[in-house]
Amino acid sequence: MKAIILAGGNGSRLYPLSKVSSKQLQAVYDKPMIYYPLTVMIAAGIHEFCIITTPHDLPRYRALLGDGTQWGIEIHYRIQERPEGIAQAFVIAEDFVADENVALMLGDNIFFGGNAFPQAVSTFKSGALIFAYHVKHPNQYGVVEFGADGQAISIEEKPSVPRSNFAVPGVYIYDRQVVDIAKSLKPSARGEFEITDVNRHYLEQGELQVSRLNRGFVWLDAGTSSTLQEASSYVETIERRQGIKLGCPEEAALVRGFLSVERFRALLDTIPHCEYRDYLAYVASEAERQQR
Ligand code: G1P
Repeated sequence: MKAIILAGGNGSRLYPLSKVSSKQLQAVYDKPMIYYPLTVMIAAGIHEFCIITTPHDLPRYRALLGDGTQWGIEIHYRIQERPEGIAQAFVIAEDFVADENVALMLGDNIFFGGNAFPQAVSTFKSGALIFAYHVKHPNQYGVVEFGADGQAISIEEKPSVPRSNFAVPGVYIYDRQVVDIAKSLKPSARGEFEITDVNRHYLEQGELQVSRLNRGFVWLDAGTSSTLQEASSYVETIERRQGIKLGCPEEAALVRGFLSVERFRALLDTIPHCEYRDYLAYVASEAERQQR
């Protein structure tokens, strides 16, 4: 399976921060925001990525992430000229998706805990698989309603009167039909190609699976100044308490076997002396200890 990470948009809800830097390059505690979705997907076993961003921000992403070789992965880039909706990602990245199953992850969604995504990636066969997460204010999201048998029966985008408290987080897994479905969409009332319309299409075909994320699983949305701050303080709390880092793509690549310990050590030499490097050195020595 391949993955697309969407890092476009104009980040207007983060103004004036977004005037100087793309939303998904803002710091979430000690790393750029995009490190977190990238790490989640690497940890799920994906090593071929396409990052979609704006023409203006593309050089910054390239400078930060390169072509992924340093982490034993592949990163391709595509441009979204205007913020015309999440579903447009599949049209823009059509040649990248080719004939494969594909995961889409929104670059401002932050997840921790559990093995829901690795399991989903390794067991997915066809159709669409999305997730549901209980939130207090579902009206800011795609909202899924479940019937008595636990099957999804409706999905609505930002409904003013939500039919449930289950929001759809920004991780979606699709089979190759998704490109044609995305191409057939009409823009919504807010002028966007909605991912919810893609999901509704699969639902109507009887090919949508919705997996509920457990209590205790963490989903944070870092798209506004206050939620960005909340996400940062969450990461800081966990990192201080546990002495481990969240959102560390190098570590995920090592654990997944995309990088050998030797390559990981060589990578360390390219990183300036800082806390992040100290952490990677600790990860390397733990990996070496386990090999012995
Ligand atoms: C988008 C999707 C919405 C989803 C949310 C997750 O919302 O349209 O269905 O629940 O991402 O973060 P937006 O980022 O456009 O507000």
